[in-house]
Amino acid sequence: MSKRVLITGGSRGIGQQIAKLMEAKGYEVVVPKREELNLESLESIDKYFASERKIDILINNAGINFISPLPDIATEQWSQMLTVNLTAPMKLVQKVIPHMQKTKWGRIVNISSIFSNLTRQGRASYSASKSGLNGLTRTAAVELGQHGILVNAVCPGYVETQLTHQNNSPADIEKILKTIPVGRMAQPAEIAELVEFLCSERNSYITGQMITADGGFSIQ
Ligand SMILES: NC(=O)c1ccc[n+]([C@@H]2O[C@H](COP(=O)([O-])OP(=O)(O)OC[C@H]3O[C@@H](n4cnc5c(N)ncnc54)[C@H](OP(=O)(O)O)[C@@H]3O)[C@@H](O)[C@H]2O)c1
Repeated sequence: MSKRVLITGGSRGIGQQIAKLMEAKGYEVVVPKREELNLESLESIDKYFASERKIDILINNAGINFISPLPDIATEQWSQMLTVNLTAPMKLVQKVIPHMQKTKWGRIVNISSIFSNLTRQGRASYSASKSGLNGLTRTAAVELGQHGILVNAVCPGYVETQLTHQNNSPADIEKILKTIPVGRMAQPAEIAELVEFLCSERNSYITGQMITADGGFSIQ
């Protein structure tokens, strides 16, 4: 029987490519629209899981990134970013655990970022949320390993998506490209390959890891 995978933020960018690849590989892919599952609202998560979902693989991909220097961060924006990028993924992990424990098999991949370990001006809320997601990943791996559930995070560098273009001007992007050893941004499909591997039966022993895919950006 094919495994059922829930992917958040599957409408575009990295999530859309993960959904496409996993569909092609024969998974049963569930990609809720924001009207069905709005990660800004924890009630929306409870409502979505009011009926049994039987999720074998969870990919916490949806994320937001508002840029703001520290003195200008509005508390509401800080809270919104932490809710979508960190609290909602934690709630979703809680929701999928019972089925995974029952079947003694599960895979969870959290889409973090190189900015969980590094940072840039204006990224305090984003970096805090993604560092927190790494912490969630490690603890979930420790607690769930005994149940056959492997939990990892993927930390992409710069990926060619709407989010990247929203937060970087063409001049910024030109500068950034010069700092990436492979000389280009990642395509979302390249991140999807790594995520799919971590979610598959081919991954049987990797857990609790933050795996970077950044074209070498963070090594120099
Ligand atoms: N792009 C990069 O360079 C990069 C680098 C490192 C890490 N990442 C991480 O990778 C993930 C995907 O990024 P991306 O670049 O593909 O982003 P994107 O193109 O901006 O897409 C974001 C996705 O998240 C969904 N989303 C946002 N807020 C939501 C909410 N409140 N409830 C439900 N869904 C919501 C969006 O759905 P709607 O269609 O409803 O808006 C959309 O499907 C994020 O976690 C991001 O932090 C990206």
